[in-house]
Amino acid sequence: MRISVVGGGYVGLVTSTCLAKLGHSVILIEVDEHKVDAINSGIPFIYEEGLRELLSAHIGKNIIASTSYRDLSSSDFTLICVGTPSLPDGRADLSIIEAASFSIGQCLIDKEGYHVVAVKSTVPPGTTQNLIMPKILSQSGKHENEIGFVMNPEFLREGLAVQDFMKPDRIVIGSSDERAGDTVQSAYCGIDAPILRTGLTAAEMIKYASNAFLASKISFSNEIGNVCKKLGIDVYEVLRGVGMDHRISPHFFNAGLGFGGSCFPKDVSALIRLAEDMDEDPILLRSVVEVNERQPMRIVELLLRRFRDLSGKRVAILGLAFKNDTDDVRESRAIPVIRELLRRGASVVAYDPKAVLSMRNVVPDIEYCEGASQALTDADACLVLTEWPEFGQLDKEFELMRSRVIIDGRRVLSCENVEGICW
Ligand code: UDX
Repeated sequence: MRISVVGGGYVGLVTSTCLAKLGHSVILIEVDEHKVDAINSGIPFIYEEGLRELLSAHIGKNIIASTSYRDLSSSDFTLICVGTPSLPDGRADLSIIEAASFSIGQCLIDKEGYHVVAVKSTVPPGTTQNLIMPKILSQSGKHENEIGFVMNPEFLREGLAVQDFMKPDRIVIGSSDERAGDTVQSAYCGIDAPILRTGLTAAEMIKYASNAFLASKISFSNEIGNVCKKLGIDVYEVLRGVGMDHRISPHFFNAGLGFGGSCFPKDVSALIRLAEDMDEDPILLRSVVEVNERQPMRIVELLLRRFRDLSGKRVAILGLAFKNDTDDVRESRAIPVIRELLRRGASVVAYDPKAVLSMRNVVPDIEYCEGASQALTDADACLVLTEWPEFGQLDKEFELMRSRVIIDGRRVLSCENVEGICW
């Protein structure tokens, strides 16, 4: 199939590259010229396992990036993959998706034959039906039988996005009519996964509810962990026993510092706002956010039990990315921890295998190191904030510290004499 993808960010780039691997011809439309140039030279502007190899195998053959919408009308269908960031009040900012819908509508004015527009961006339930559809239909001057609409949410985890695309747990296709859904479903031919066909708004809600549930599972494990620590028992042992119940599952039960990233905080906030706008009182979701916001302060409180005053203390931070295997620091739990340490007068030295550059843009005024040993040298304390597996190998390096105060926020260390944030 010929597929146009609008938005060459994280989701758009991974999706385009994987669709090319499935044998489709992909035109990736992205406004940022630098990103387009990088993609066309086969270099992804993000770090993602396996993506670079895949992109360089297909670029110039069956995938091409462009700043122009010109060729969109020659494709069989268009996938919208633009960002839906948070507004200051937590609602989803739909201005980018609105602008993209306008441009897509303009391109479809002269299109002959049927076209499908599928939304992959995470949008509040009702957006495809009430905003995207009317915008594209009015701009193009077409009728609903000439353009079909689909909501096809992504469930890609950063660091595992290529694998998640190729081997998903399920593919959700919400559609305005059967023909539109069939068109998008046929693009996934070759992927062995259950397909769920729904209406447009239900598909949008599936994405929000999935992320809200996963975020709740993390805040739940953290709250149980905080109680377990007071009881002197191991939350990991407890949750292993809980997760053996098939109704619960053992996955996504790692208690620690809480969740960050570009999806969970943004999507849970948007769902809360959506509920409030409809006069609902989402008490559970608000608590999920509250537990998550308090959790980073707990690691600082544990440090204060050891030192009382952090002024002048050298604190080594291991891990800056919001999770391992990514250079992404968006909503990383390391940010509030570092800010609190600085506010209390500590001097912060930080190391991360991939995220030093990105964190420098957010917190420029701390010392960054090229390795864990350098960060640990002469440190009064060490806080582990990201679950990088390589931190599990550290042992002798901790002997470089001035005093051995080590608090693990992610249950990743394997050496002795370490305190856990909630175990
Ligand atoms: C998430 C969803 O998993 C994905 O389906 C969706 O499309 C986008 O959002 P991602 O943000 O890449 O993916 O990260 P994920 O692996 O889900 O982790 C999110 C955060 O939760 C990280 O900060 C991680 O450290 C934390 N986490 C995860 C826990 O604290 N405990 C866990 O058990 C799992």
